[in-house]
Amino acid sequence: MNLPFKAVKISENVYWVGAVDWGIRDFHGYATRRGTTYNAYLVTAEKPALIDTVKAPFFAEMMSRIRSVIEPDKIEIIVSNHSEMDHSGSLIQTIDALKPEKVFASVMGVKALAEHFHHSRDIQAVKTGDKIDLGNMSLSAVETRMVHWPDSMMTYLDRDKLLFSQDGFGMHMASTERFADQLPESLLYAEAAKYYSNILLLYTQTIAQALDSVQGLGVPINYVCPDHGPVWRKPEQISWIIGNYVKWAEQKPVDKAVIVYDTMWHTTQHMADAIADGVRESGCRAKVLPLSGAHRSDIATEILEAGALIVGSPTINNQMFPSLADALTYLKGLKPRNLLGGVFGSFGWSGEACKHLTAYLTDMGIEIAAEPLRVKYVADDSMLAQAHQWGAEIGMKLLKRL
Ligand code: FEO
Repeated sequence: MNLPFKAVKISENVYWVGAVDWGIRDFHGYATRRGTTYNAYLVTAEKPALIDTVKAPFFAEMMSRIRSVIEPDKIEIIVSNHSEMDHSGSLIQTIDALKPEKVFASVMGVKALAEHFHHSRDIQAVKTGDKIDLGNMSLSAVETRMVHWPDSMMTYLDRDKLLFSQDGFGMHMASTERFADQLPESLLYAEAAKYYSNILLLYTQTIAQALDSVQGLGVPINYVCPDHGPVWRKPEQISWIIGNYVKWAEQKPVDKAVIVYDTMWHTTQHMADAIADGVRESGCRAKVLPLSGAHRSDIATEILEAGALIVGSPTINNQMFPSLADALTYLKGLKPRNLLGGVFGSFGWSGEACKHLTAYLTDMGIEIAAEPLRVKYVADDSMLAQAHQWGAEIGMKLLKRL
């Protein structure tokens, strides 16, 4: 098969040879409504190198793009910065096709690749500070554990002052544009924040260490080339995305409450609306996310810049709604920090939902700001006024924390 895909030149010695996945809509539970890219990069050094590969079904597309620059079997070095299969899925096939002299991964990467592919290829381990010789230039390894997996590492190309940052500074967005400066800033912010909150939030502490490790290289960075989404090449945009990572890693609370609920016969919905207006009356902002339309990964994104999480559910068969259990299980795994919490809901006779919601929030380390607000069957005007006041009180408590 002779596919027509072409490489895109990134810098003097680097080409993008990845793949665009326009159709993916679910990335391990994350709603990828704009699709994604799997970025692989070709370094045209004396010893040509391939940095990362692509998800298995896109192998032929990557090979086609490589072939538009050099014959693939000229590649002497392959570096696997991250063993998750969106980047390593075609690695073994690529090694067998190119027969490179050497293949490198981090110490944990060598183990993870063995445990994924149960292969017998020779993959050499590198650690922070090690240099990979490409003849007339070199790559420096920087281990960045848990950004996004224990095996994760970044590599720095000295000649082009270019950082291959694997999952760091990426986003799930399919586009024909390969550079961030070709895309609107509002879109970059929304997708980078969504990516951070859904992929990296749990590893916030290690993000700071990774940023220190990169800065510890003491080298200029003219390009940041992630494994998903566009390449950063404008100095002000590189500072902007790093600055946002520093901000997101702090998870400083802001004057916004995220209200997540599901409803059976609209009472919990009416309570949510009244609570949101009470939050607004207090001087805070509220974002209301009915689970009939909101995806768990959108809730995670809203929480990245918030100060309170308020959750509501009717009781059904002594439980909370399954949609709440889905969203809270996902959020619990991401371990958001510095949030105030509140729970509310309607019930008919037993009313356990608020108890279960409280247990979830408490387990997440969220400080409950008010007694649970419960309504039996249908809220009347005075009950909705009480919900309004309840929301205002949580808003005022939030303001005091800022
Ligand atoms: Fe893009 Fe952690 O893989």
